[in-house]
Amino acid sequence: TRRITVRDIAAAKERGEKWPMLTAYDAMTASVFDEAGIPVMLVGDSAGNCHLGYDTTVPVTLDEMTMLSAAVVRGTSRALIVGDLPFGSYQEGPVQALRSATRLVKEAGVGAVKLEGGERSHRQIELLVESGIPVMAHIGLTPQSVNAMGYRVQGRGEEAAAQLMRDAKAVQDAGAFAVVLELVPAELAAEVTRMLHIPTVGIGAGAQTDAQVLVWTDMLGLTAGRVPKFVKQYADLRAVMGDAAKAFAEDVVGGTFPREEHSVH
Ligand code: KIV
Ligand code: NA
Repeated sequence: TRRITVRDIAAAKERGEKWPMLTAYDAMTASVFDEAGIPVMLVGDSAGNCHLGYDTTVPVTLDEMTMLSAAVVRGTSRALIVGDLPFGSYQEGPVQALRSATRLVKEAGVGAVKLEGGERSHRQIELLVESGIPVMAHIGLTPQSVNAMGYRVQGRGEEAAAQLMRDAKAVQDAGAFAVVLELVPAELAAEVTRMLHIPTVGIGAGAQTDAQVLVWTDMLGLTAGRVPKFVKQYADLRAVMGDAAKAFAEDVVGGTFPREEHSVH
């Protein structure tokens, strides 16, 4: 079986097919999702919060993203793997973006990269696409700009909605193969989806986008504390893993593990 490519993604939009995307940060988790048939996986810089223990995505480095992306590529054989460009690895301009994206493609083996920003990132997208690197754009809430914008719904009000439409058009014109819409009103996401010929990937953007993405640790209930309203929890891994760890601890303290069948002689 061959890997899914950005051409398959374009064909899905033509056929009007919706598709799911999940984040992944390690080989084993990625292999589970690959076997489950998830067609596109994002090695998101949400790894900062969800895998590496930072408070935001801002501190995540390109070295870290390269290592995590390589692991996800190794753990999968079918999914298209998209590697996130972290904060500071593309804002200086197109040449820096190309240098950073090239590392993710050559060293990690990703099939595409993602970066944040609409109009403000269109030159970066253009050069990457010209150079043969497929780009997924990301507009609406862009967490790398948390210090400037916070974590608020984007695109509310006429001016903000018009800006989001301009951003969507800009990334499509620059050659992006898909665009993430994060935390924007459902009606606006629907309008963007109708306007574009590239697929929209929603997170907190309602039901009308072409694709949906969730952060895997949120989706599977591993994240500690509250998760955003737009998350649907499909499992409670935090409870499953915590209960298992407690049972193991009790067995060891109580002398009921290991048993004879776990021993060699
Ligand atoms: O880093 C990430 O997980 C993302 C998705 C939420 C789109 O950018
Ligand atoms: Na991200």
